[in-house]
Amino acid sequence: MTRPLLISPSILAADFARLGQEVSDVVDAGAEWVHLDVMDGHFVPNISFGPAVIKALRPHTKAVFDCHLMIAPADPYLAAFAEAGCDIITVHAEAGPHLHRSLQTIRGLGKKAGVSLNPATPLSAIEHVMDDLDLILIMSVNPGFGGQKYIPAMTDKIAKANALIGNRPIDLEVDGGITAATAPLVTGAGANVLVAGSAIYQGKGVDDYRKTVDILRKAAEGGGRA
Ligand code: DX5
Ligand code: ZN
Repeated sequence: MTRPLLISPSILAADFARLGQEVSDVVDAGAEWVHLDVMDGHFVPNISFGPAVIKALRPHTKAVFDCHLMIAPADPYLAAFAEAGCDIITVHAEAGPHLHRSLQTIRGLGKKAGVSLNPATPLSAIEHVMDDLDLILIMSVNPGFGGQKYIPAMTDKIAKANALIGNRPIDLEVDGGITAATAPLVTGAGANVLVAGSAIYQGKGVDDYRKTVDILRKAAEGGGRA
């Protein structure tokens, strides 16, 4: 099954003093989704923003809010992120003992359920929830910070995740170190959603963002899969 290629810029690398404009600019530049990196200073060694900021951003675009929760525990906060306007809520498999319950809670809130795996976590951690999720997010860096280098061993993991998905309607997203050089590797392995933070937001404004989104999309299409 061929899933559509989607670009999901991470606002972690955006100008936090002008986030509303940064979100609408990146969507005007052609991005389909907006990636929201939520960090708690506990599950990852950095703190970013929470549901109040996402709620304030919601009126700035109709684009899909792709929310990546790097928090533990996640369960007590799922309803708050749903109410804030997230469309997809992704939890880490490492963040709690009851992954199946977390995914069911997200779907019960009327949102799409995603699961993310740190580079060190094997795919076997999610084999039991393949019919309970809408998205798999493969971390291609250790989460916590933007601007890190893609871990090459993740290409093979993406290919294995793609095989595990088979014909199920599950998006396969990759996050960390995505550039024009690494985009074709991940789409070649079967990924269809590319998160890019620093690659996009290192530019200044909508014209720069459009150039980078186009470059990433062309490079990704060169990977041949999506
Ligand atoms: C890392 C975050 C990523 C990050 C990606 O913990 O989950 O979404 O912002 O940034 P780049 O594209 O700069 O690697
Ligand atoms: Zn992320």
